[in-house]
Amino acid sequence: MTDKAPAPVSPAYLTAIRTSYDTVAADYVQLVMSPAELDPLSRSMLTAFAESVRAAGPGPVADLGCGPGRVTAHLSALGVPVFGVDLSPKMVESASRAHPDLGFTVGSMTALPIRDSALTGVLAYYSTHHTPPDQLPTLYAEFHRTLAPGGLLMLAGHVAVDEQLHLRPTQAYGSHPVSYETHLVPTERIAALLERAGFVVTARLVQKPHEGMDPRRAFGTVLARKPEPPLPS
Ligand SMILES: C[S@@+](CC[C@H](N)C(=O)[O-])C[C@H]1O[C@@H](n2cnc3c(N)ncnc32)[C@H](O)[C@@H]1O
Repeated sequence: MTDKAPAPVSPAYLTAIRTSYDTVAADYVQLVMSPAELDPLSRSMLTAFAESVRAAGPGPVADLGCGPGRVTAHLSALGVPVFGVDLSPKMVESASRAHPDLGFTVGSMTALPIRDSALTGVLAYYSTHHTPPDQLPTLYAEFHRTLAPGGLLMLAGHVAVDEQLHLRPTQAYGSHPVSYETHLVPTERIAALLERAGFVVTARLVQKPHEGMDPRRAFGTVLARKPEPPLPS
């Protein structure tokens, strides 16, 4: 491990995400729930995704914004061939240390080092809420490019109940300084952008915020499929 400042990435919002998650990486695992501790509904969505991608084909699943790799390992335990990609080198180090049997790479989901149609599944688990909303079409185009026809996408994370929210936290995960911004978008908007990118949205789940949480926020899951091309007539 090195204490050198992480290399900047372009655009600047990616550098802010990388630097912030490098800073919190050491404490993240202690502070954030593991898949086993999730509520039954959230866990069941991961199980449904795992079963569906296993049925969709033998290709690998990419866990994008995998952080310390706990969800990657959870999917692997459910019989899914999976690897992780994260912008934060410290998160990737942590994931590789904890799960040496799985593959983890530093990279950005805005420009994936993955060839066209190579994946049977894409999971982005609580990893897209620092992406400015005007950049979401770039992300969704990248998910669509890398998925094979018939491949499945699962997005889960912080969403807005109604109006889009833009937050500028200065600290997170046990008072670590962070410079990223948080953008919460309603699941309806996510679904509309996914359809515009060429996906068929198959399910949406919105879970109410916990008691005491900002009532404008919720937890959302969207499932989508990249359609097969029509058969020639
Ligand atoms: C809140 S953590 C979630 C980590 C993991 N998915 C989990 O549920 O434990 C968000 C992660 O997404 C990563 N991330 C955010 N934007 C990214 C991008 N454009 N490309 C790759 N990783 C990204 C961050 O570096 C961070 O590790």
